[in-house]
Amino acid sequence: MDEQLSLDYEKNLALYLDTGRETYLYQISGFGKELMKQGTGPESIVEMHLNAIKKINKDKKVYPKKAIDESFTFLMEGIMSYGTAYREYLNSMTDGYLAEIKDLNIRLSQRLTEMTVLHETVKMTGSSLDLDEVLSLIFKSAVETLKAEDGSLMLFNPEEKVLTIKKAHGLNEDVIRKTRIEIGEGIAGTVALSGKPMVICGKADNPLVKIKGRNKYEGVNSICAPLKTRKGTIGVINLNRKKDSEPFAEDDLNLLSTMAHEAASAIENASLYRNLHESYLSTIRALVSALGIKDPYTKGHSDAVAKHAVAIARRLGLSPKEIEGIEVAAVLHDIGKIGIREAILNKPGRLDEEELRKVKKHPELSLKILNGINFPWKVKPLIYAHHERYDGKGYPAGLKGEEIPLGARIIAVADLYDAMTSDRAYRKALSKEVVVEELKRVAGTQLDPEIVKVFMEVLASGEAGENRGN
Ligand SMILES: [Fe+2]
Repeated sequence: MDEQLSLDYEKNLALYLDTGRETYLYQISGFGKELMKQGTGPESIVEMHLNAIKKINKDKKVYPKKAIDESFTFLMEGIMSYGTAYREYLNSMTDGYLAEIKDLNIRLSQRLTEMTVLHETVKMTGSSLDLDEVLSLIFKSAVETLKAEDGSLMLFNPEEKVLTIKKAHGLNEDVIRKTRIEIGEGIAGTVALSGKPMVICGKADNPLVKIKGRNKYEGVNSICAPLKTRKGTIGVINLNRKKDSEPFAEDDLNLLSTMAHEAASAIENASLYRNLHESYLSTIRALVSALGIKDPYTKGHSDAVAKHAVAIARRLGLSPKEIEGIEVAAVLHDIGKIGIREAILNKPGRLDEEELRKVKKHPELSLKILNGINFPWKVKPLIYAHHERYDGKGYPAGLKGEEIPLGARIIAVADLYDAMTSDRAYRKALSKEVVVEELKRVAGTQLDPEIVKVFMEVLASGEAGENRGN
């Protein structure tokens, strides 16, 4: 490899990691393309990238994973945009699996290990990843334990720079919706600013009262504790009793502070998890984008299927963990097509029997590609079964009705809808109206009729968004 090019690359990558500026990302992509043009194999390019990261990170702070991932994604895009070279490279692979697919698989496994560890940690602390549920539980128990008449859990909204109510007890809907407290304003704002809990019980000489204009709070019987994370205060829990009830005491303050600490940890865990999930999904997308080179008609298809499948799963009221699994399975559902020849995938006419047999192998090929990766959700059975039919006439196993995993039945509906509403090698996109009629026609034979019904509601409500239009 050209040494100057390699040094220039390193310099450019360092500039991106330092500044986060997008222009450097495009340069990275350009390098990938240029190296491919010079005949460097994708494997060596990926190696150069990893070496450059190691070198840049040496004796320095470790750069955020997201930035490193982003640089990798752009490099991959550059590699893949050099279509001809890449195509030749693809065709020269006898086993059908690309070196960088293996590399991506390793990275995918690493991400999954991190996610699994986080899952386990969260499980061990007796918490749940469903943030909303955790906050409800903590807030409810604070209200009950401290015998509050009313109160709220408020979170800081960084866009509006105010505290807004996320959970409430004994407050009317209007108050919940409209309350906006600035930092430093009132009891909640003061606690958010100072990061220290506070009791206000209406006695002017109470030593715990440390608030500006405290006369205003004569007759108030309140307690308030901050939600603190490593990054600072992100909200407060506020509880009130009637003024003639027993005043809150310092013990109550300790108890509420502990509960606020738990709520803050749950929020921190959830955001950590969300970031990890996003970085994980971007790795998966890089894996899937390799498929886009072989079969341009599937470009954007997996994301659209995922979007529709998630909308159906949400409407069915599935748990966040089930929804995550369905999203990942939907993004990856056709990954096995990487192992099928382009001439078959892009054939404009009808496939002959032998070609069809090969295409039908893709669910099994998907399992082979993902072999060895331990997903924290049920993903592989959904990918494997996405071509099963409700009447049992599908493939690969000929499963029937509820024998087919629910997630696979959902993906089947989303898959058919997106496939029909977009252009294919053998036909143009069909109109939404025609496709809706077709889905209704095959409900009960090819597709689960209940899920088709739910998807119709999703489409009517606009939750699934519009067709990709390609
Ligand atoms: Fe498929």
